[in-house]
Amino acid sequence: MTTLGTAIIGLGAISGVHLKAIADLELTDLKAVVDIDENRARQVAEEYGCDYYTDYKEMLKRDDIQVVHLCTAHYLHSPMAIDVLRAGKHVLTEKPMAENIASAQKMLQAAVENPNVQLGVIFQNRYNAPSQRMKQYVESGELGKLICMKGIVTWNRTAAYYETEWKGKWATEGGGVLINQSIHTVDLLQWLGGEISSVKGSISTDSLEGVIEVEDSAHAYIEFKNGATAIFYATNAYGRNSPVEVELVFEQGTLLQRGDSLYLDQDGKLTTLEEPVVNTLGEKSYWGMSHELQIRDYYEHLLAGKPFWIDGPEGFNGFRVVMDIYESSRTGQKIVYNGAEVAL
Ligand SMILES: NC(=O)c1ccc[n+]([C@@H]2O[C@H](COP(=O)([O-])OP(=O)(O)OC[C@H]3O[C@@H](n4cnc5c(N)ncnc54)[C@H](O)[C@@H]3O)[C@@H](O)[C@H]2O)c1
Repeated sequence: MTTLGTAIIGLGAISGVHLKAIADLELTDLKAVVDIDENRARQVAEEYGCDYYTDYKEMLKRDDIQVVHLCTAHYLHSPMAIDVLRAGKHVLTEKPMAENIASAQKMLQAAVENPNVQLGVIFQNRYNAPSQRMKQYVESGELGKLICMKGIVTWNRTAAYYETEWKGKWATEGGGVLINQSIHTVDLLQWLGGEISSVKGSISTDSLEGVIEVEDSAHAYIEFKNGATAIFYATNAYGRNSPVEVELVFEQGTLLQRGDSLYLDQDGKLTTLEEPVVNTLGEKSYWGMSHELQIRDYYEHLLAGKPFWIDGPEGFNGFRVVMDIYESSRTGQKIVYNGAEVAL
């Protein structure tokens, strides 16, 4: 079987999910890991039987590495992706694609200039069974027209969470709960709702004022060109990490997603469409499994020479809405989409 040589840059919290997915996938061969923390890099390299680097540019000189995963801080995604693309390697970056619009656009430009390699963006929640099921209902029209949606993310991130070099700061994280935790839900709303006509939103720092620069709470109202609307609320100031809730109201029924469960409500009769997946250890493994699904899909596209569907412009769509909520909050104005909202 043909495999692709792989490397991961950034060996922090999310890297374990990528390392496991790569190790489990017969389509890849992990050649190297990179982190500026040499002890961490060495330890992971020993565990996975690969080489390690502390300077990713040294790793990029290798001909046996064709794909690079970016698991670093938001502000590093764009410069690293540009270097990887220019080195003639495919790049799969963690969300969000960048910390601001200008950085994202530079990354998109580099992808256009290097058409022989592909830029992919992680939005693993699109692969969750409830997300896929909701998309099918939207596309089939079997419940009639989509009328409105809501997305609710109520999580808990304390001051301790922000005690890192890059989190909680506009320059390096690019925002707070909106760009980091709830971008997945914003992305789902725009993916399900279709083309947007306007975004109005607001952010605030409710529980960690004076501790972090960025917001810990955000809300938005989104209008779609097909007439549907969406409301969105996210906070890191809740007392616990509740399951994410998404609701889609159609003419002939309502889909209710709560975490990994999906229900259909028709005239008060509730049908369970999806239930949480439990692994053999008895733990919920949905989060990691969806990363694995997206990573597998990405490699299958690369090996087949086909364009991957969550590419730069597609990854930009959800990111763009996040940026528009920030802009709307800053100006107090509704952001009206006029057709120029393309990535480049
Ligand atoms: N898809 C998801 O659901 C999900 C979940 C968690 C995190 N993430 C994303 O993953 C990314 C990383 O988040 P995290 O929580 O793992 O961060 P983290 O801070 O835990 O890890 C970042 C790692 O990058 C290393 N690093 C910093 N500069 C580097 C450089 N120049 N070269 C190589 N390594 C360098 C750091 O030493 C650290 O080990 C972020 O974009 C985050 O939003 C995504």
